[in-house]
Amino acid sequence: MKKSILMLVALFSIAAMVLSACQPTPTPVAQEPGAATAAPAGKLSVGIVLPTKDEPRWIQDETRFKELLTAAGYDVQILFSQGDSAKEKENVESLVSQGIQVLIICPQDGTAAAAAAAAAKAAGVKVISYDRLIRDTDAVDYYVTFDSVAVGEAWGDYLVANATGTGNNLYLYAGAASDNNAFLFFEGAWNVLQPKIADGTFVIKNSSEAIALQDKATLTREEMAKIIGQVTTEWKFDVAKNLAEANLTSAKVEDKGTVFILAPNDGTARSIADAFAADSDVTKYYVTGQDAEKASVQYIIDGKQSMTVLKDVRTLVADAITAAVAYLQGGTPEQTNTYNNGKIDVPAKPSAIVTVTIENVKAAIVDSGYYPASDFTGLP
Ligand code: BGC
Repeated sequence: MKKSILMLVALFSIAAMVLSACQPTPTPVAQEPGAATAAPAGKLSVGIVLPTKDEPRWIQDETRFKELLTAAGYDVQILFSQGDSAKEKENVESLVSQGIQVLIICPQDGTAAAAAAAAAKAAGVKVISYDRLIRDTDAVDYYVTFDSVAVGEAWGDYLVANATGTGNNLYLYAGAASDNNAFLFFEGAWNVLQPKIADGTFVIKNSSEAIALQDKATLTREEMAKIIGQVTTEWKFDVAKNLAEANLTSAKVEDKGTVFILAPNDGTARSIADAFAADSDVTKYYVTGQDAEKASVQYIIDGKQSMTVLKDVRTLVADAITAAVAYLQGGTPEQTNTYNNGKIDVPAKPSAIVTVTIENVKAAIVDSGYYPASDFTGLP
């Protein structure tokens, strides 16, 4: 209770900062000839572009942005790219032509988004990469993110903590190769799992590419790309389900029994978990996830998903708005870290993550004010 009041206070003080940063209109940054002019006084000078409405994760972000900004009386523009980089570029161009000064964008495809970022930068707009890093361009000013390597490490830690003896069956799955985060998550997981594969605790069952690299403690991006290419879910539920079913079809009975599954997020975790649960040769499964999607929180309560990683979207949204306000006021956002995007080191301040299991689901999700208890049944 106390925490949620604190959170509300924090949200409203950030909203107040946004209001004061936007009224009157801040001095516009230097613009190229022909570029859009500054937004009219009282209008938010920030535009937001998110990847798709088809995944609950990005609806969470939309909701939290709206809670923070429209509660303060601002008609913030949040556009969705619906998994299409061309649509994403149109969205950016539309916001730029409306006079935004700061763009907060979560790219659908990290490399493809470089063109949209460059177009915004050319119009004098500050570009904040949100959650996913835009790659191979110098047109990114700041990266607002969670510690994605820590997310992968949390998955690894969970699986290791639940494995005993040697020869445990391990199934690996990954996100979309077009998403830089898929690499960071996998890197974190590999940091923890590789030593436990090398010492025989786990045996990889569904990736010849991972088996070929299992003696290497650290993988290059190209090496990770080989594994991800073989075990990608593309962040899609149906792809995840089909891949899990194909893996189960080719696995032998002895590769089943108790299994340990590295699943890259909640949506794909539920699809993969359902496929494993439907196989009568699988007697017990441990499966990871992330995002604390409501459906997965319910799966955890029901014993159908083992863990998720809560990335408190309220924090990410607040960080993004704080960074935008810093730019609107002519400053620069706080930096604790950098992420290389293939071209430059992008300044960032990654946020912490929380592992959620049946043990702490009530404290982490409900008592923290993230979701109300009434959204779930059978809470412990
Ligand atoms: C995000 C995850 C999300 C995934 C699929 C990643 O970039 O960090 O939270 O589940 O994309 O949309």
